[in-house]
Amino acid sequence: MRIYNIRTAAACVIGATAISVAVMLNGCAESQKVAAKSGAQLWAENCQRCHNTPSPSTFSHEQWVTIGMHMQTRAQLTEQEKEKIVAFLSQ
Ligand code: HEC
Repeated sequence: MRIYNIRTAAACVIGATAISVAVMLNGCAESQKVAAKSGAQLWAENCQRCHNTPSPSTFSHEQWVTIGMHMQTRAQLTEQEKEKIVAFLSQ
């Protein structure tokens, strides 16, 4: 009975480890998906939802940096996504 309990506990630990590895791998795949996307893609997907997006030439780099900070919260973007979009808009 004692041995059985230890085995059950071990199985639990292994199971929990497998689940957390799966979650970690999934999170990794998610950020790789973001990494694969260009600034232009992220911009097209995230910035037209609420308004027509002004063209990149409308604002200077400094202005896009500020707008990026404001719109990051509105569009719920990660830091990485925002950086890419701002880089695209500042070209
Ligand atoms: C959840 C809705 C929402 C999303 C998503 C969103 N915006 Fe906005 N945006 C707004 C609102 C509301 C305003 C007007 C009020 C303001 O300026 O804060 C605005 C204003 C702007 C302006 C005008 C600023 C000015 O001074 O004329 C620009 C440029 C802009 N957004 C760019 C973007 C970009 C780039 C993205 C993508 C990263 C984006 N927005 C995503 C809601 C959104």
